[in-house]
Amino acid sequence: MPKRAATGAPAPEAPLQVRAVKAGDLPQVIALDATVTGLHKADYWQRVYRRYGVAGQGLRHFLVAVSRQQVCGFVIGEVRDWEFGSPPCGWVFAIDVDPRVRQRGVGTALLAAVRERFERVGVDKLRTMLARDNTLILSFFRSQGLTAGRLIPLELDIGPTAGARP
Ligand SMILES: CC(C)(COP(=O)(O)OP(=O)(O)OC[C@H]1O[C@@H](n2cnc3c(N)ncnc32)[C@H](O)[C@@H]1OP(=O)(O)O)[C@@H](O)C(=O)NCCC(=O)NCCS
Repeated sequence: MPKRAATGAPAPEAPLQVRAVKAGDLPQVIALDATVTGLHKADYWQRVYRRYGVAGQGLRHFLVAVSRQQVCGFVIGEVRDWEFGSPPCGWVFAIDVDPRVRQRGVGTALLAAVRERFERVGVDKLRTMLARDNTLILSFFRSQGLTAGRLIPLELDIGPTAGARP
C-alpha cells in the first residue's frame, strides 16, 4: 500500500499561482504523484528536484500550481538541443493535476507557464510523449494545440528476459 502524505483540500476558486518549485513543496508533489500513479517515489522526486528544481539555468523547469498554499499540480520540462537531429526544443515530460481540481484550467495554466519559459530562451517548438492508451492526456494536449509531430518513438526490449516478454 503506497504511503500518502496529506495534500490538504485545494481551493480551486482561490487565485492560482504557477511558480518554480521549492524544497518545501516536495512532500505535496510526492503525495500528488502517489495519488495519480499509486507509487510513493520519494527518492526519485529528490533527484528530480535537484536536477530540475535547483540547477535549471533557465533551461530546466519544475513548476508547481499553488492555490491557498496548496500544491494542486506540477509540470516538468527541459530545453534539449540537437538531439535526434533537432534544433533546440522544449520537452514537457511530466504534467499532473490533483484529481480534485481537474477541468478548471490548472493544466492549461501549467502548460502555458512552461511554454512561456521555453519561449523566453528562443525555443519555437514544444514536444511531449504520451502512452498510446492515455486518452485523458491526449485530449488535454490536443486541446492545447499539440498535434502529431515529425519524430516517432522506437523501442526494443533488451536484457535477459527480452525474448520472453510479450
Ligand atoms: C491531463 C491533465 C493534466 C489536465 O489537467 P486539467 O487541469 O484538468 O486541464 P484543464 O482544466 O486545463 O483542461 C484543458 C482541456 O483539456 C481537455 N480535458 C481535460 N480533462 C479532460 C477530460 N477528463 N476528458 C476530456 N478532455 C479533457 C479539455 O479539452 C479541456 O478543455 P475544456 O475544459 O474547455 O473542456 C489532468 O487530467 C491530469 O493530471 N491527468 C493525469 C496526468 C497523467 O496521466 N500524467 C501522466 C503523463 S505525464
